[in-house]
Amino acid sequence: MAETWVNSAERIGADLHLELEPTGPGGRRAALIRALRDAVRGGRLAPGTLLPPYRSLAADLGVARNTVADAYAELVAEGWLTARQGSGTRVAERAEPLRAAARVPVKAPPRARGPRHDLRQGKPDASEFPRAAWLASYRRALQQAPNEAFGPGDPAGRVELREALAEYLARARGVRTEPARIVVCSGFAHALRLLFGGTSGGGGTGAVLRGPLAVEAYGLGFHRELLAAAGVRTVPLPLDEDGARVGQLDRERAVLLTPAHQFPTGGPLHPERRAAVIDWARARGGLILEDDYDGEFRYDRRPVGAVQGLDPERVIHLGSVSKSLSPALRLGWMVLPERYVAPVLAVKGEREGWASALDQLALADFLASGSYDRHVRRMRQRYRRRRDRLVAALATHAPRVEVTGVAAGLHAVLRLPPGTERSAVKAAAWHGIALDGLAEFRHPEFQDPEGGLSDGLVVGYAAPSEAAYGAALEALCQALPPG
Ligand SMILES: Cc1ncc(COP(=O)(O)O)c(C=O)c1O
Repeated sequence: MAETWVNSAERIGADLHLELEPTGPGGRRAALIRALRDAVRGGRLAPGTLLPPYRSLAADLGVARNTVADAYAELVAEGWLTARQGSGTRVAERAEPLRAAARVPVKAPPRARGPRHDLRQGKPDASEFPRAAWLASYRRALQQAPNEAFGPGDPAGRVELREALAEYLARARGVRTEPARIVVCSGFAHALRLLFGGTSGGGGTGAVLRGPLAVEAYGLGFHRELLAAAGVRTVPLPLDEDGARVGQLDRERAVLLTPAHQFPTGGPLHPERRAAVIDWARARGGLILEDDYDGEFRYDRRPVGAVQGLDPERVIHLGSVSKSLSPALRLGWMVLPERYVAPVLAVKGEREGWASALDQLALADFLASGSYDRHVRRMRQRYRRRRDRLVAALATHAPRVEVTGVAAGLHAVLRLPPGTERSAVKAAAWHGIALDGLAEFRHPEFQDPEGGLSDGLVVGYAAPSEAAYGAALEALCQALPPG
């Protein structure tokens, strides 16, 4: 069957895809009648649609003008089309498309009533996305983008973004790098997939790294599952008040850490442990994966610099805009030791398949124009106030509940008396609050012989809007056992 795109857009306002059989009973005229009838019947030509004039449809299809005129006349006679002097030929109003029967309005499933207060960790305040500044960056990026930006993308990422990131990460996070060592991706989870393989890992073959991978005993289950799906064994490293006990690293090839702000327990990696993990990597040829998910948000002092700055050849530094701007953007970066750049690019394949080049250009402008710094500064103040309010409310209403970890990030852990976590999560749910207990984040193979980190609630204080936060705090205080 010959496929023809009929592009008489000035009349019908849209392309019309007609399939004309090159030969068949009745020749071109009959083929056109069948094709138009099918288009009306199938709903591709809606009732009332104005059809192209004979001349332009004939030219588009490469048939005689009379062939079109005859086909229209036949379909008018059959009732599929209507023709009125001076107003052209249209699809008849009562020519009900066949699919109409199937288009019975789908009943929306009844909406489950969700919790009233969202105190789950991990989400920035969505009502604070800097829409105007992002739009200004996007507009500038579109105006200034060279034509080649609209072609297939470089898997390393736009050079404009890599330059802006190299400058920003050096200045704000103490990362030592250059644009050629940065590979853009669509967030931390994507970086893990690229490094370790697994589903949608990349366009190339194999993985860049292999397990076993040491991970902190508490972390995001989603990331552990993603690694398990890629066939990577993860080995839990115990935590204490100084962070991950990196002295217990043994034969693992690599270790994944959240040094600036352990996720979720909230402490920074002690300076001695930072040095010790670098020593381990040097001595054993190991690699450190630094998840810098919320490193910009420190409230009691200047943010601690990235571990990557201590030895750029031993650390892969991973970041994204998921906490600082929005997880909806799906933009992140990998700062790589030189030897990993080519393997990572090989896994990504010939063309960028994930991160939109236009979003990358917008982020480059957002960084270079200072909008990113301004937004982070504003959100830092806001989240600090949120955390202060949480601490103050608990001190008044639930003084036995201790807030652990440093003043940083978008969540806090409330330490609970042993054995009370489950009932506290239940009580919170009863008060309409969505949050998780610490157990949710524990590595399934981890048994803490010292019982150091026991029960706790992980409270995300960033997600509710400013207007909703007060009520969420009040509900939380009611849910917790009074002092
Ligand atoms: C521990 C941790 N790492 C990294 C991220 C960022 O993930 P992504 O960039 O895939 O959104 C998150 C979630 O936002 C997280 O909680």
